[in-house]
Amino acid sequence: MFGEGQVQQIATACEQNEAELVIVDGSLSAIQQRNLEEKTGRKVIDRTGLILEIFGERAATAEGRLQVELAHLDYQAGRLVRSWTHLERQRGGFGFLGGPGETQIEADRRMIRDRMARIRRELEQVRRTRGLHRDRREKAPWPVVALVGYTNAGKSTLFNRLTGADVMAEDLLFATLDPTMRAVRLPGVDKAILSDTVGFISDLPTQLVAAFRATLEEVTAADVIVHVRDIANPDSDQQKKQVIEVLAGLGLFAEEDEGGEPLIPIIEVWNKWDLLSPSRRAELAEAKAARSDETIVSLSALTGEGCDQLLETVDQMLTADARVCTFVLPMSDGQRIAFLHARGEVLSEETLEGESGEPELRIAVRLSERELGRFSAL
Ligand code: GTP
Repeated sequence: MFGEGQVQQIATACEQNEAELVIVDGSLSAIQQRNLEEKTGRKVIDRTGLILEIFGERAATAEGRLQVELAHLDYQAGRLVRSWTHLERQRGGFGFLGGPGETQIEADRRMIRDRMARIRRELEQVRRTRGLHRDRREKAPWPVVALVGYTNAGKSTLFNRLTGADVMAEDLLFATLDPTMRAVRLPGVDKAILSDTVGFISDLPTQLVAAFRATLEEVTAADVIVHVRDIANPDSDQQKKQVIEVLAGLGLFAEEDEGGEPLIPIIEVWNKWDLLSPSRRAELAEAKAARSDETIVSLSALTGEGCDQLLETVDQMLTADARVCTFVLPMSDGQRIAFLHARGEVLSEETLEGESGEPELRIAVRLSERELGRFSAL
């Protein structure tokens, strides 16, 4: 922890820079935090506290919010215990300057435990309804494209750039479920749902992993993943590695590690292309050509340069493994016929007289592997 001299340095730095808040890139006990607050005269938060603040702001779904609250309580409980054992060691378990005695802390801990139990029950409830929502979305006639990436890579900027231009009525359906989902129009497959996610952070405190996962689980239901990278950041490669590790943790690679084939196609976006010098661009273009087995699109979410290329690439991915199938369906099977029209490219249709006298439709349609699977499940 900080020595007397360092605390003085921090206090001086606060004065000089007129800082209002001190963020410590590490973890602090409740007592350490209080001491630092007293000595600097500023509010102090530690790393876990900061991440909880960000998750709290970004948690869009009910489940995300509950998970963040749970993590928050867990964090508080841990600090109560820690400050208590600290007091006990120093003071033999007696009250400290009129502060909480053992019974008060015990009461606080029980209160936190009760609230955590209540939230866990609510989470169960939310998970059940979310399952229903996801079913509904899976039946929605558009594929899902998930944006993932390290914090500050530019996901939200890209999300707004790709979807901002045309907000459609259909969005309302999803807006009520989750504001981080919006429809995006694609050149070939009509439209898709674009889903934004919370940014990745290095060395995530373990007590926050569940909250983070809850906000990311949606990714496993995507048809295509767009991994947004800040290619102008000197740590870009390291950040990519961490993102891939987390995706692997969600079971998105065939062999449980990053080495295997992704189960959902991944497009890598090299964002902030506008910040690069011409020589750096040339260098990266060469690197890109050498990695022809990967799908990489360089663009600037800020200026819009290259964004059309991304949409085309998404489109190609969604239709890459498409093949032509012919089905004969009763005319009365509105659901299946509508599915084929919405999810596939209909090549021909012909009405037939069925054996039972009921009219039938012979329909030839180009469908991707995934859509064919969904169709079979209908
Ligand atoms: P989190 O919400 O932390 O996950 O960040 P994010 O990935 O959503 O990043 P966001 O879109 O908030 O962008 C982060 C910063 O990068 C903002 O200041 C953007 O204006 C900037 N930015 C995003 N894309 C570009 C780009 O293509 N070029 C430049 N120059 N800046 C960009």
